Amino acid sequence: MSKRVILITGTPCTGKTSISHQLATTLDALYLNLTDLAKHENLTLGKDKKRNSIIVDEQRMQRRINQIIKKSHKENIIIDGHYAATVVPKKLITRIFVLRRDPIELCRLMKRSGFSDHKLFENLASEILDVCLVDALNTVGARKVCELNVTRKSVKKTINEIMFLLDNPTSEEALSMFIMIFTPIVLFHSLIQTP
Ligand SMILES: Nc1ncnc2c1ncn2[C@@H]1O[C@H](COP(=O)(O)OP(=O)(O)O)[C@@H](O)[C@H]1O
Ligand SMILES: [Mg+2]
Repeated sequence: MSKRVILITGTPCTGKTSISHQLATTLDALYLNLTDLAKHENLTLGKDKKRNSIIVDEQRMQRRINQIIKKSHKENIIIDGHYAATVVPKKLITRIFVLRRDPIELCRLMKRSGFSDHKLFENLASEILDVCLVDALNTVGARKVCELNVTRKSVKKTINEIMFLLDNPTSEEALSMFIMIFTPIVLFHSLIQTP
């Protein structure tokens, strides 16, 4: 059985977990949340006190993910995490979907989720600088990467887009040049007033 390993990446609060859960149900897939895996199996090197988060042991994580994928009886495997492109063995990746959200909407969702100033600014900068997109492109190249603009979209609408793109992998240009949609000067003024 050939397996499809689908990565859902993106800056925190772009909706990875909401989308991945729904997609896993739709595809009857194995769902793997990297933050949960690292915590439950202690695949960490310690704590990042400044960020109040864990430091993942990337090598052990990669070995464990390799094992999980190989042992899985499911045809589809959905991997949810903003650093998924860094820790999933490159040769096993079928497709990476990078979720993108208008930084102004992202800022609102992060505040609602309780992000602190430092993390909020760091995540906003990551989104504006295409960090997850560049990670994905560096890992597997443009043909396996697809950027999805989730701004003002329901989970259901995004799932429909993903299902279409999985069925029609070469149907359209996957890279949407997301940030070009937004006028930098409007973004700048909105963001310096928002946080
Ligand atoms: N399509 C969407 N529209 C509006 N809010 C959403 C959408 N997807 C997720 N959210 C909300 O945004 C927050 C972050 O979503 P989550 O799926 O946990 O993101 P991530 O896993 O990328 O951090 C949650 O409060 C969730 O309810
Ligand atoms: Mg999540």
